[in-house]
Amino acid sequence: MGKGSGHGKIIIFGEHFVVHGAPAIAAGISNTANVEVIKAAKNSIVTKQRVIPDLSIAAIANVLSAMNIKESYEVRLTGDLPTEGGLGSSAAFCVGLVRALADEKKLHLTPEQVNRFAYEGEKTFHGNPSGIDNYIATHRGVLEFTRGRTPLENKFVPLELERPLDFVVSLTGKIGSTPKMIENVRKFKEADPEEFGQLMDEYFKIATEGAKFISKGKLDEIGSLMNANQSLLSELGVSDERNDAVVETAMKEGAYGAKLTGGGGGGSCIALAKDKAHAEKLAQALTKAGYASFSTVIDRK
Ligand code: MEV
Repeated sequence: MGKGSGHGKIIIFGEHFVVHGAPAIAAGISNTANVEVIKAAKNSIVTKQRVIPDLSIAAIANVLSAMNIKESYEVRLTGDLPTEGGLGSSAAFCVGLVRALADEKKLHLTPEQVNRFAYEGEKTFHGNPSGIDNYIATHRGVLEFTRGRTPLENKFVPLELERPLDFVVSLTGKIGSTPKMIENVRKFKEADPEEFGQLMDEYFKIATEGAKFISKGKLDEIGSLMNANQSLLSELGVSDERNDAVVETAMKEGAYGAKLTGGGGGGSCIALAKDKAHAEKLAQALTKAGYASFSTVIDRK
């Protein structure tokens, strides 16, 4: 038996825009996908989490093939990372799987190898992933990510924070389909390249300012940029009524800013709080409003 795990993430700025070449800022969270692999006659997935079994089995096959492993495995998934969408659970699963297989086969992989093999599994889930989720699932930390023309040309700039940032993560209660949202955005771009270009230009300003304010811990400014980013995501059509309702509730409850995180169309949202006590209060209020929530701290490194 082999064991491994991968971390979840939140995207503070830039989901979807990152797929089309803009920088995004993301941070690892402590929640993990924990994976165990046991040699078996055929590949299977065993979990109490909400997953799409066919997709998971296809991802397992892709990861095995990328790692040049010929055997089949029963793959067990546990952990505290919700799988409703937006928190990088498919990438965390793939990273956990690569690490579990490496553990089983006594392979010593570099983090970059783990990331690269996990990306092959992630492609099964997302079709055209930027690569940001598997990178964070492997390395954690806070970083600015820009997609290159090939995965080898992806750029990662780690950000150092002057102070930790306290966020609340809220589940909308509806499973978000990231591939569907990625496809909707592709169609939007194809149908109206000029409008899409304008949204990209506006987003670029948010990304540039956002990285600076995150490093300096400027809560008011980060919050305003999160709200501006949320407006752009609404214009792109990836924020559904549940995302909007969570954002509205978080703002009413005193968040500095709030937005969907990840693919949207349901899934998860994040809200920025003043400190840990405020984040816990916000999480309670959002949970009471019907959106299961938890607080998470993004640390200095
Ligand atoms: C998903 O967590 C973020 C998206 O930008 C897709 C991707 O970057 O692969 C929607």
